[in-house]
This record gives sequence, structure tokens and C-alpha cells, in this order.
Amino acid sequence: MFPLSLILLVSAQLSLSYASKCRSQPGDAAFPSQAQWSALNTSVAGHLIHVVPSAQACRQMNCTEAQWTSGLFRADIPGSMNYYNWEEDYTMSPPALCLQNGTACAQGRVPLYAINATSAAHIQAGVKFASAHNLRVSVKSSGHDYLGRSSQKNSLLLWTQYFQEVTFTESFSVGSKNYGSAVTVGSGVGLKMMYGAALAAGKFIVGGTAATVSAGGGYTQGAGHSAFGPIYGLAADNALEYEIVVANGSLLTVNEFSHPDLFWAVRGGGPGTWGVIISVTFRTYPAFDTTLHTANVATTTANQTGALLAAHARHVFDWDAQHAGQYFYLYNSPGKNVLELSTLFVNVTANESLALMKPLLDDARALGALVMNETALTAPAMAVVGFADDASGTNGVMGSRLIPATAYENSPESIGEAYTTLVNAGAEAVLGHILGGGKVSANANINSAVTPKWRTAKTHVIVVSHWDDSATMSQIEQIKATLTNDYVPVLAKMTGQSDSRSYINEADVREPDWKVTFYGGNYARLSAVKALYDPSDLFIVSAGVGSERWDVDGMCRV
Ligand SMILES: Cc1cc2nc3c(=O)[nH]c(=O)nc-3n(C[C@H](O)[C@H](O)[C@H](O)COP(=O)(O)OP(=O)(O)OC[C@H]3O[C@@H](n4cnc5c(N)ncnc54)[C@H](O)[C@@H]3O)c2cc1C
Ligand SMILES: *[C@@H]1O[C@H](CO)[C@@H](O)[C@H](O)[C@H]1NC(C)=O
Ligand SMILES: *[C@@H]1O[C@H](CO)[C@@H](O)[C@H](O)[C@H]1NC(C)=O
Ligand SMILES: *[C@@H]1O[C@H](CO)[C@@H](O)[C@H](O)[C@H]1NC(C)=O
Ligand SMILES: *[C@@H]1O[C@H](CO)[C@@H](O)[C@H](O)[C@H]1NC(C)=O
Ligand SMILES: *[C@@H]1O[C@H](CO)[C@@H](O)[C@H](O)[C@H]1NC(C)=O
Ligand SMILES: *[C@@H]1O[C@H](CO)[C@@H](O)[C@H](O)[C@H]1NC(C)=O
Ligand SMILES: *[C@@H]1O[C@H](CO)[C@@H](O)[C@H](O)[C@H]1NC(C)=O
Ligand SMILES: *[C@@H]1O[C@H](CO)[C@@H](O)[C@H](O)[C@H]1NC(C)=O
Ligand SMILES: *[C@@H]1O[C@H](CO)[C@@H](O)[C@H](O)[C@H]1NC(C)=O
Repeated sequence: MFPLSLILLVSAQLSLSYASKCRSQPGDAAFPSQAQWSALNTSVAGHLIHVVPSAQACRQMNCTEAQWTSGLFRADIPGSMNYYNWEEDYTMSPPALCLQNGTACAQGRVPLYAINATSAAHIQAGVKFASAHNLRVSVKSSGHDYLGRSSQKNSLLLWTQYFQEVTFTESFSVGSKNYGSAVTVGSGVGLKMMYGAALAAGKFIVGGTAATVSAGGGYTQGAGHSAFGPIYGLAADNALEYEIVVANGSLLTVNEFSHPDLFWAVRGGGPGTWGVIISVTFRTYPAFDTTLHTANVATTTANQTGALLAAHARHVFDWDAQHAGQYFYLYNSPGKNVLELSTLFVNVTANESLALMKPLLDDARALGALVMNETALTAPAMAVVGFADDASGTNGVMGSRLIPATAYENSPESIGEAYTTLVNAGAEAVLGHILGGGKVSANANINSAVTPKWRTAKTHVIVVSHWDDSATMSQIEQIKATLTNDYVPVLAKMTGQSDSRSYINEADVREPDWKVTFYGGNYARLSAVKALYDPSDLFIVSAGVGSERWDVDGMCRV
């Protein structure tokens, strides 16, 4: 005879597995009652809020156009995504939209409730509530995500924007190991704020080029590239410790000694998948000056543009001795292409930077391109690398590839031809980044989930497509399909490799072979870590580890 307790246990598991095929949604019997939401609100000291799409929030606040397009302004709106197409649900019929100047407003992919957390305990309460009630969750800091991973339909949002502490120390220790100078930043701290604090403290922190991207949010979970990567490595390479609330509600301190498996996964294993980060501690370095060189170069035909980018490819190693980082952004409009070059040098004067850029610009002139203007200025790195604000409130998608150094060494002409193809195909912008090599390559020995292709990459190249609110559903679908089926394969070919990889934070969410393209050989180990820390898949995002078990909304198991 079976013990009664075992029979009860088996039947409880059966009914649970049946009931939990889908997350609980409004209208389901299991969805929390008003009284239960109120109890949650009480347990988080009244920090539970209703969430509305940014267009609706802006109607309530009478936003100006300048506010609508400001990343800084939008970071304080709980329902806002910077690419606000991620607030819309185009799959509904009719589509569930809330457009800037529209009249109707549907909730779309915007969460229903948010915990506007100011303490780890608020996040712990939210995680436990979501688990107990089988809710879909979103985790968001800035809302910058280009793949829509921080906004989930019918979800409870765990919003970390107000974890705003920045604390410097000269001596950060874990156990008996002392890492020296470091900074701990809350997971809501945007890069602009972090750089301002570093400037005041006489410190340098590895970070990206943006204002509101959160260093402790999605950025290092993807890898975190930086203009100073060639000197100091990726942001994830500089992360020493995380504080994370995991799916069972525990607040864990995660570093190379404590939960080393999770420490491995969270650095590069993809955002939104491991738990809710409360803070991150990064190495810091003594402050230094950078020389920012800019030049804008215009071409008139696709072939000339291809020739210009082939010349750029031949010169791509010119600045290695100076460990320079470079953004090389190509904008394509009919009859005119402009290549915007922004290069950040270290230990180089403004005049020296002009000399270092001259061979490329001379070649550009020789092929008939117009060097419209050129500037060089020297200032503290932490005053130059960030942005005053981020352009936001538009609709867009992107796709990308990490381009290995070998592609530049073997065939700069093929790289130029790929650009000609993209320009002829009508690609709107091709955004290049020389952020690999140097210390990014030298850090290949760091034991983290950053895709090894970052270690052999010279550049990261993105194709971007936008649309405005007048686009029809079929036009939007066409734009997405063209990106996935036409543009990204050109970038894949540019790598010269059959097993090319993409940087998961600036990428096409529809990558057909996403497990390989984003995670490569790390996927099995990442899945094993996921099973340990999030066995019930509370934290699921598009193209994230474990998402193959769920439908596109992460709402029902497949
Ligand atoms: C203007 C701009 C400039 C950029 N520049 C760079 C750059 O220079 N280098 C670079 O590498 N990338 C850059 N990016 C890409 C950036 O790394 C990603 O958009 C990143 O995901 C942003 O993280 P976030 O937390 O700010 O965004 P969010 O949209 O809030 O979140 C992004 C992802 O992280 C998760 N997440 C957010 N907060 C937490 C948390 N507290 N705990 C756990 N998960 C969380 C979300 O669930 C989501 O999956 C840029 C993006 C923009 C829009
Ligand atoms: C939560 O409680 C606060 C304070 O009592 C209240 O202002 C807020 O409206 C409540 N949130 C919700 C979603 O009801
Ligand atoms: C927004 O403008 C309307 C109409 O001018 C006005 O009635 C309302 O009070 C304003 N709301 C805010 C929050 O300023
Ligand atoms: C919405 O209206 C504002 C103010 O008239 C205008 O500046 C903006 O371009 C409009 N946006 C769209 C998407 O039409
Ligand atoms: C969220 O909390 C912060 C800090 O308490 C507060 O300043 C902000 O107004 C709140 N935002 C919303 C939308 O409730
Ligand atoms: C939660 O999970 C972590 C990581 O597996 C574990 O260390 C911790 O003991 C668990 N906490 C509880 C309350 O089960
Ligand atoms: C561009 O270059 C290709 C290949 O060299 C050539 O066939 C084509 O005619 C050129 N197009 C124009 C418009 O010059
Ligand atoms: C810049 O030069 C100084 C002096 O030679 C050197 O100490 C420092 O390490 C250099 N900085 C970088 C970032 O290379
Ligand atoms: C930079 O070069 C210009 C032109 O050669 C020269 O006039 C100027 O003095 C130089 N500036 C510095 C700071 O060396
Ligand atoms: C360079 O020229 C372009 C195009 O005319 C212009 O948009 C840009 O502001 C100029 N940049 C500088 C630094 O002068």
C-alpha cells in the first residue's frame, strides 16, 4: 500500500503541472483578487502601481515632444520602452496599440502592475508573490532593451529604476581576496549618473556610450561593450560581485567564491534570465583623459560607400597601439551616405589624433569622398564617453554580428562589398563599433558566459530599421522580415565564418538559430545553471535561456 502522503503529493504535482502550463492572466480563476493585490501593496509599503503605456502616461502628464523623445524623461515612466514598439502587441487582431498621438489606447505588451522598488525586500516580496500566484514577470531598469525583453504582456513588473546608490571603496574584498579600488552601483543607476559620480571621485569605470542604460541592469548580463574595452576589457570582465534576488525569493551575494556558477552565468549569459539584480560592484581605475576625434565623410553612390568602408577595413588596425575605440556609423539616404567616425584615444594629444586619422581620411579623399569636418578635443574620459541624453520614443528593430579580426585581415574588399549590398538594399543605418581586440581579447581567460566570439572580434556591426506611427501592420512585418532575411545574412557573410555570432544586447530577437547565434557552446551549461536557480522558469525573456520551453509571449509552455 502506498503511504497516503505520497498519493497526495503525486496528485498535487499533477494538478500543479496542469494548472501551470500557462501563467495566470486576468480573467483566470487563479489570477490574484483585488484583496490579494492590496495585500501585496501593503507588504511593499504602498509601492505597487498600475502601469500604462508611455503614450497614455504622456497624455496624463501633457508631455512635450522633447520629453517624449528623451531617454532620461522616459526612464521615470514605468510602462515606457525607449523603442516604444515593444509596448505594442501587433499579434492581436485588431492590434493592441497605444500610439503617441492616437485616440484609442490598448495595454499591448505593457505590464499590468509594477513594484516601484526602493529596497531588496520589495523585490523579494514581488518575486514570492509572482511565484505563489504563477504570474508572468517583467524585470526592468531603464527600458532600453532593443529586443523588448523588459516588457511582458499581462505581467507584474519588478522595476529597479530607483536603486540609485553609487558607493566607492579603495579596498573591495571578498573573503581574504582584495580587489582594490571598486564601485558598487544600484541596478537603476544610468551611465550618465555613474560617470558623473566617477568624475567627481577621480575614478574611471568601464561603461558604454549612453545616458540612461543601466550598468547594473541588462548591460553586463549581455557583456557590456565600451570604447575603452581595448584598454580595460568588457564591462562584464570588470564585474566583481552582484546582489541578486533569485526565483525562490532569496537575496544572494554572487561572486567568484559565492555561487560561482551563477556568477559565471550572469556575466554574459543574457539579461532577464537569472533573477533580479539589486547592485553590481565593478573594478575602478585611476581617472585619465581621452582625446575624442570626430570626422564626417560623405559619399554619393553605393559603390563609393563600399570603397570607403573597404578603406576603413584596411585601416582598422591603425589605432591598435593607442588602444583606441571607435564608433563608425553609416547613415544611408538617397544619393548621400554619411560615415560618422568617433574615435576615443588614450595618451594621445588632439594633434596626434589628427595625424593618426590622416591615412584613412587621405584614402577617403582619394576615392572621391568628401571629408565634411573634423574635430579633436581632449578631456577627462568620464566627461566624454557618455551622452547627455538618449534619443527615444521611436519604433525600431536591429540585427548584428561580431566581425572577427580575421575578416579584416583576410578580405577588406569583401567587407566593403557587404556595405555596398546593404546600401543598395536600402538599409537605413549600419552602425560599426571597434571595441574588440586588446584587453577584450586578452581577457579570454576570464571564466564567464560571455560568448568566446567577443574575444576574437575586432568590431561589432549592427543594421537598424525604424518606422513611424503611420506604418501599417504589413509594412512593419515587411521591415522586420527584411532585417532578418536580407540584412542580417549580409552581416553573417561579412564575418567570413560559417558559425558567426551576434551580441545579444544589440540584436535581432528573431534570429532563427538564436541558441547558437547568441550563446554558442555555452548553452548547455547556462541551461544547467538556470535549472538550479530558476527551476520553474519565473524569469523568461525572448531568445533567453529556457525560452524554448515557452511560447513567444512567455505565457504558456509549449
Ligand atoms: C542609447 C543606447 C546606447 C547603448 N549603448 C551601449 C553600449 O555602449 N554598450 C553596450 O554594450 N550596450 C549598449 N546598449 C545596449 C544595452 O546594453 C542594452 O539595451 C541593455 O539591455 C540595457 O539594459 P537596461 O537594464 O538599461 O535596460 P532594460 O530595458 O531595463 O533591461 C534590459 C534587459 O535587462 C533586464 N534587466 C533590467 N534590469 C534588471 C535587473 N535589475 N536585474 C535583472 N535583469 C534586469 C531586463 O529584463 C531586460 O532583459 C545601448 C542601448 C541604448 C538604447
Ligand atoms: C498602493 O498603496 C498606495 C499607498 O496606499 C496607493 O497610493 C496606491 O494607489 C496603491 N496601489 C495600487 C495599485 O492600488
Ligand atoms: C494637461 O492639459 C489639460 C488641457 O490643457 C489640462 O486640463 C490638464 O490639467 C493638464 N494636466 C497636467 C497634469 O498638467
Ligand atoms: C505627435 O504630435 C506632436 C505635436 O504635434 C508632433 O511633434 C509629433 O511629431 C507627433 N508624432 C507623431 C508620431 O505623429
Ligand atoms: C517611484 O518611486 C520613486 C522613489 O520613491 C518616486 O520618486 C517616483 O515618483 C515613483 N514613480 C512612480 C511612477 O510611482
Ligand atoms: C534559494 O536558492 C538559493 C540558491 O540555490 C539557495 O542558496 C537558498 O538556500 C534558497 N533559499 C531558500 C529559502 O530555499
Ligand atoms: C558598382 O560596382 C560593380 C562591381 O564592380 C559594377 O558592376 C557596377 O557597375 C558599379 N555600379 C555603379 C553604379 O557604378
Ligand atoms: C598613459 O601613459 C602613462 C604614462 O606613460 C601610463 O602610466 C598609463 O598607463 C597610460 N595609460 C593608458 C590607459 O595606457
Ligand atoms: C597643433 O598643430 C598645429 C598645426 O600644425 C599647430 O599650429 C599647433 O600649435 C599644434 N598644437 C599643439 C597643442 O601642439
Ligand atoms: C559636421 O557636418 C555635419 C553635416 O553637415 C553636421 O551635421 C555636423 O554637426 C558637423 N559636425 C561638426 C562637429 O561640426
